Amino acid sequence: MVPTAEEFDVVIIGGGPGGYGAALYGAAAGLSVAMVERDKVGGTCLHRGCIPAKELLETAHVFRTVAGAKEFGVQADQPGLDFGSAIDRKQKVVDGLWKGLQGLLKGRKVTTFNGTGTLGAGHVVKVEGDGETTELHGKHVILASGSVPRTIPGFDVDGKIVLTSDEVFEMEKLPTKAVVIGGGAIGCEFASMLSDLGTEVTVLEALPQILPGVDKDVVQVVLRSFKKRGIDVKTGVKVTGHEPGNGGTTVQYGEGESLAVDVVVVSVGRRPLSESLGLDGTGVKISDRGFVDVDELCRTGEDGVFAIGDVIATPGLAHVGFAEAILVIKQIVGEPAVPVDYGKVPWCIYCQPEVAFAGMSEEAAKEAGLEVLTSKHQFRGNSRALIVGEAEGLVKVIAEKLADGKAGRILGVHMAGPWVTEQLGQGYLAVNWEATPDEVAHFVQPHPTLSELFGETVMALTGRGLHG
Ligand code: NAI
Repeated sequence: MVPTAEEFDVVIIGGGPGGYGAALYGAAAGLSVAMVERDKVGGTCLHRGCIPAKELLETAHVFRTVAGAKEFGVQADQPGLDFGSAIDRKQKVVDGLWKGLQGLLKGRKVTTFNGTGTLGAGHVVKVEGDGETTELHGKHVILASGSVPRTIPGFDVDGKIVLTSDEVFEMEKLPTKAVVIGGGAIGCEFASMLSDLGTEVTVLEALPQILPGVDKDVVQVVLRSFKKRGIDVKTGVKVTGHEPGNGGTTVQYGEGESLAVDVVVVSVGRRPLSESLGLDGTGVKISDRGFVDVDELCRTGEDGVFAIGDVIATPGLAHVGFAEAILVIKQIVGEPAVPVDYGKVPWCIYCQPEVAFAGMSEEAAKEAGLEVLTSKHQFRGNSRALIVGEAEGLVKVIAEKLADGKAGRILGVHMAGPWVTEQLGQGYLAVNWEATPDEVAHFVQPHPTLSELFGETVMALTGRGLHG
């Protein structure tokens, strides 16, 4: 007798932020949920991405704070680094969150299956793991298999000399010299963290600018700070290969230039992990670039099958995965569902100085043919920034220019500086509510705070200001 598949309202393949977000939100809505994960629930974000990266960047922050303590009249020896303890703390934070997530899933009665899930015809998901095969049937199926780091030809990842973000968090010791290939979000976070902890860092970026897509004024802030801290950023350079030797390697780039380092961190983007999803006998389509094709409601070509997170061609951010998870569950329970407005999602990059933005950069708005008004205010004019001793950076607000010359909708809010990742909220709401400077400037900002710089920047667009 053929065993019948276990029945669920929703079967989810992948237990990262997209998958576990759908599981938790779906279970909270009263659905019976199965989630298939072959590694650890939490996915890239929790185990090899956002969380460990930000935790180690916090070690860098503590190091900088102690190193600068004398300026505040606090007598402290120059700090040294016990890299092993830093890695241990990172792991403790990750493991604590992992335990918490497992508890949440259990508490909401989500059934987790360990193994690789493949989708076949008729909404049947086959789970293969530990030498056993289990079949599940979902009234609805959500594909959330995520992404993996891209690599470049000639750079075979060995976890010792050539690393991607998957291996950096497992390093046993801090390298003396490192090359970071790719100056995107991951590259800049690693360059900043390694440099603050004492590594000599060079960033090699193929494009003319690091942090592609980020407003140019914001990029300038990061570049100036990187330069001051000795991070060598080379843009517009092509990496051609490397020659291992003496426990490290020599990286070749540009017009016959080379650099001897201990490790190479390859951070040239991520690719969707769709090849292990099966999909035979289904109407799910995969694009040339490997993404699962979906419409604006995350529906695939197969009725009742959705895809969310890094496996679809939307911003590769954990919180975008959460938003897509909610969008899909709302459709499953028959509630109105509003597509995610991908052009206005929040972006946060945790290098020093931090970067945060929502909505259009000045360049993007102009490219879209919009007439704009901009306002920029520097943290060096903000009392709290001077108090905390981190006054580099700015807030920039981009608004539509109306026919009468006044500022209309706020199109973008872009920041670089102290704790801006925690300050983006107001800017995010302003952009997404399409508020005008007059509307936002009406609200009171607490003083003295870092976040009042956003209020000042917006107020200036009304034609008057206080400090700015
Ligand atoms: P990315 O696509 O943001 O940046 C990769 C960079 O590598 C680009 O600037 C590209 O021009 C450069 N590049 C590509 N090939 C190259 C080559 N052969 N030589 C030199 N440069 C080369 O990708 P990244 O930074 O790896 O991040 C991947 C994803 O992870 C992003 O989509 C991002 O959404 C997400 N992420 C977000 C973070 C955040 O928001 N804080 C942090 C980390 C990752």
